[in-house]
Amino acid sequence: MKKFIYSLFISLLVLSSKYYNSPSTEKEKFIEDLISKMTLAEKAGQMNQYNGFWDATGPMPEGDYQKKRYNELKNGQVGSMLNVIGVDEIRALQKIAVEETRLGIPLIFGHDVIHGYKTIFPIPLAESSSWDLELMEKSARVAATEASADGLHWTFAPMVDISRDARWGRVMEGAGEDPFLGSLVAMARIRGFQGTDLSANNTIIACAKHFAGYGFSEAGRDYNTTDFNHYTLHNTIMPPFKASVDAGVRTFMNSFNTLDEIPATGHKHIQRDILKGDWNFDGFIVSDWGSIDQMIPHGFASNGEHAAQLAVIAGSDMDMESSLYVSKLVGLVESGKVKEELLDDAVRRILRVKYELGLFEDPYKYCDNKRSELELASEENMKISLDVAKKSIVLLKNHNQLLPLRKENQKIAIIGQLADDKNSPLGNWRSQAVYNSAVSVVEGMNKYDGNEITYNNGVDLYYGMTNFHNRVKINYDDRSGFEEAKMAAANSDIVIMVLGEEGHQSGEGRSRTNIGLPGLQKELLKEIKKVNNNIILVVMSGRPLDLTWEDKNIPSILQAWHLGSKSGDAIAQVLYGDYNPSGKLTMSFPRNVGQVPVYYNFKNTGRPSTSIEQVTNSGYADVENSPLYSFGYGLSYTNFIYSDIKISSDSMTKDSKINAFVTVTNSGALKGEEVVQLYIRDIVGSIARPMKELKGFKKIELNPGESKIVNFEIDNSLLEFYSYNNIWESEPGKFHLFIGTDSNVSDYKEFYLVD
Ligand code: NOJ
Repeated sequence: MKKFIYSLFISLLVLSSKYYNSPSTEKEKFIEDLISKMTLAEKAGQMNQYNGFWDATGPMPEGDYQKKRYNELKNGQVGSMLNVIGVDEIRALQKIAVEETRLGIPLIFGHDVIHGYKTIFPIPLAESSSWDLELMEKSARVAATEASADGLHWTFAPMVDISRDARWGRVMEGAGEDPFLGSLVAMARIRGFQGTDLSANNTIIACAKHFAGYGFSEAGRDYNTTDFNHYTLHNTIMPPFKASVDAGVRTFMNSFNTLDEIPATGHKHIQRDILKGDWNFDGFIVSDWGSIDQMIPHGFASNGEHAAQLAVIAGSDMDMESSLYVSKLVGLVESGKVKEELLDDAVRRILRVKYELGLFEDPYKYCDNKRSELELASEENMKISLDVAKKSIVLLKNHNQLLPLRKENQKIAIIGQLADDKNSPLGNWRSQAVYNSAVSVVEGMNKYDGNEITYNNGVDLYYGMTNFHNRVKINYDDRSGFEEAKMAAANSDIVIMVLGEEGHQSGEGRSRTNIGLPGLQKELLKEIKKVNNNIILVVMSGRPLDLTWEDKNIPSILQAWHLGSKSGDAIAQVLYGDYNPSGKLTMSFPRNVGQVPVYYNFKNTGRPSTSIEQVTNSGYADVENSPLYSFGYGLSYTNFIYSDIKISSDSMTKDSKINAFVTVTNSGALKGEEVVQLYIRDIVGSIARPMKELKGFKKIELNPGESKIVNFEIDNSLLEFYSYNNIWESEPGKFHLFIGTDSNVSDYKEFYLVD
């Protein structure tokens, strides 16, 4: 028997190296050949993914649960594992799959590499505020290099869910509220992870998630039901997923929510008809953690067998941690409830991706201890992280030019627990970051020595250690540090208050109904303001917070998110003006939580509101409809003037193009970068159309006094949408074109699309 396994393995290796990098038909031939040798149980095994269940470099597994899984692994009943960390562990498990199973099919190892692996980058929402696609590609490239150097093949990223509701903790993982920007960001991240050659040992496969609609969880409560219409699905939710397919993403993950009352995992229409049908996606879909099993409490499947049947019919190819494919699929096929071709289809997709990764050529090609020593958290990677962090910061307010700080002869009081925190800035989903490894604000500020700097905690935001699995314990009653902090503030020229959310207050399972500064932080801020008004508020958070009071009362506000390993350096460099902030929000900041969901590309209604005085219009009695800070908003230490907006023609056909031009001038005294934004409004459509949609942007750098002409080309593709005819098409008629510094831009040029 052993001999048979060995010779089969060798023949597979020979076959694979022979066909490796050869035409895709050879690849498919190899896969078909392999499938023809597989038993039903082995097929179900390829579709089974387990979480790391045992220290593979230690003693043999003990306990029934571990032993059962170990036996399944040896029997070829596991196709993939997640959360196995490190070259040695991965090698040990791979060895079992390759040497001990009958067919020796290698495992594929996945992990959530969301914003860096060991070198941690800003959380994705922050990073998207840079509007710098090259930079985002670069950070994903670094993450892929590090993860692959540590043995991994696959990241469960990017999350491309459009999110409009700041109560939902997972907004931190995405690129915000806009489908156009979200699509470009998705593509950039996928290019970064996957590179140009999947079989290279420094690229990993990406995963577009969560398919679909997860960002619309009702009331921002995680895992909740969604309720949106067919056109919202196609025009708002789907574009980043479609863009992911266009960028060559190799896997998708489905989502926990229901859409159209059907759990996404069991949703045949979106998985088989749209993704695998209309979009021709030939990679595979992994379920989310336990989401096959979870169709039972959803009230959609009656038991495990039924859940497995529904999921496989709907097109979910791999079962993450439900154990239902491995335990039920064979019986389902034998009893005729599931056709074997469905298993073949799933297995074909999974093997295809393994083949593309080069795992049949060399299953250990990612297991190189030297690389992991050299490449993880390298100086070069940390430099890139710093660059991304600086560019992710958004200046929300700068009254009287309190910023940038003078570099000498100032007494500066830094206040707030987060200012001295080396852990929280790593954010949620921090992968293999070392605990307490971020540069804190205090450390960053102390690298400048011309000013007298003091630090005072002021108030504890939270107690104890935090991690992915616990709830952050917030301080609601201990004010004992207030007085000392007030004294420090009173004796200083400038106060820097570093307040916001601890890194684990946003992310999965972190929905909040109150999105102001948590705990006693706002109370402290109010107290400090009584003794010194020169306050710079540095907000660290994983989501838009309600900063209405702060906006009214605090002169300068910097949105500093959770910026990763180099957080404090980035913040200090921005505070001192060594980097002039250029970030622009990709998600609207509400005036209060009652306004959410709030987003810039809303529809007008029949009774649009322009003031809160109007009674029978579509507005509130207490706040305006507009958000506090809109999509696209962000200030600089310099000023940009937009002038001379022109379009080359006021009409175009589906086959022609027009050009729009704007002159942007830096009228201030500092060099700066500006994201010039193009929006279009389709005035009348076969379905109601948004008031404005982002259709282009360019990030430019201007010296003081310098002007540049920025050009946008408008072609038919920018005017298309998913119409009443249920296809992507443009409709002739009138359009408004806006070019400006953020989504509030109101001046427009008019043009027509004519037949
Ligand atoms: C559940 C999350 O929803 C998903 O995004 C993640 O990739 C998996 N767990 C694996 O950790």
